[in-house]
Amino acid sequence: MGVKASAAELEAQLAALREENAGLKRRLRHLGRLSELGRHLAGVAHEMNQPLLGVKAIAQLVGREASDEVVQRRLAFIEEQAVVLESLVRRLRLLSRGEDGEDEAQPVALREVLDASRGVLQHRQRKVGAELEVRFELEAPTFIFGLVHAQQVLVNLLSNAFDAVASCSARRVWVIARAGAPGRLEIVVADSGVGMPGEVRERLFDPFFTTKTAEQGTGLGMSISREIVQAYGGTITALTGAEAEAAAGERVSTALRLDLVRAGEGSP
Ligand SMILES: Nc1ncnc2c1ncn2[C@@H]1O[C@H](COP(=O)(O)OP(=O)(O)OP(=O)(O)O)[C@@H](O)[C@H]1O
Ligand SMILES: [Mg+2]
Repeated sequence: MGVKASAAELEAQLAALREENAGLKRRLRHLGRLSELGRHLAGVAHEMNQPLLGVKAIAQLVGREASDEVVQRRLAFIEEQAVVLESLVRRLRLLSRGEDGEDEAQPVALREVLDASRGVLQHRQRKVGAELEVRFELEAPTFIFGLVHAQQVLVNLLSNAFDAVASCSARRVWVIARAGAPGRLEIVVADSGVGMPGEVRERLFDPFFTTKTAEQGTGLGMSISREIVQAYGGTITALTGAEAEAAAGERVSTALRLDLVRAGEGSP
């Protein structure tokens, strides 16, 4: 009897070890892919600099010569986006040299980051036919963050939301800001999209976890976003069902809630 019981115990331990082993192997594979990606990105960042400078210079030059106001505006937009890319590339190059590529933490106005992010995604939004509703429950929501990082996070969240509503008949996306706990700002990005089954919600922040095709996604958006948000003392939480609806105050399928360090009123 005793022998049998201990054999069963051993078997259970063995099964647990096997599972742990499989988990470790999975993480190792992730790390291996991340390091390969890192090496590749360092090369890409290096190569991207020249073409970007070219794009910026030509946009400036033609913009100055153009007499048509619409053309001028569009060229200014190209130049602006090239500047954003330039700073991303600069950070990548710093990172690949092992230097701190952190964006300087400063008071960031949500309105500004949102406008810039919408600019980046406007073609996508139009193509999907998504309606974006912005609701600020406090005046001029501002938080302590890196400017480029803030845009990166918002673009990731909004592009996921646009993807999520693309196949639905109601295609609504919300960005809501409100005062959170003392000294905190809460930003909710919600959508009326396909929703997030339990198994997706559980793995949402895993690097390379994606339900999209290789052309549509890499599965890095959310894991990178979480890392960034945590670096500035914030948290990011995925909500579904009643929790998502409570956070958004609307009938939504999914909500991502950011809890950030608030700037401005009451902050040092
Ligand atoms: N708002 C959302 N609604 C439903 N599912 C979502 C939402 N946001 C993310 N997901 C799910 O989580 C997965 C991971 O998201 P993540 O942003 O990390 O990667 P991705 O969008 O697939 O690729 P990319 O690297 O281009 O961002 C998505 O493939 C999708 O299945
Ligand atoms: Mg994504």
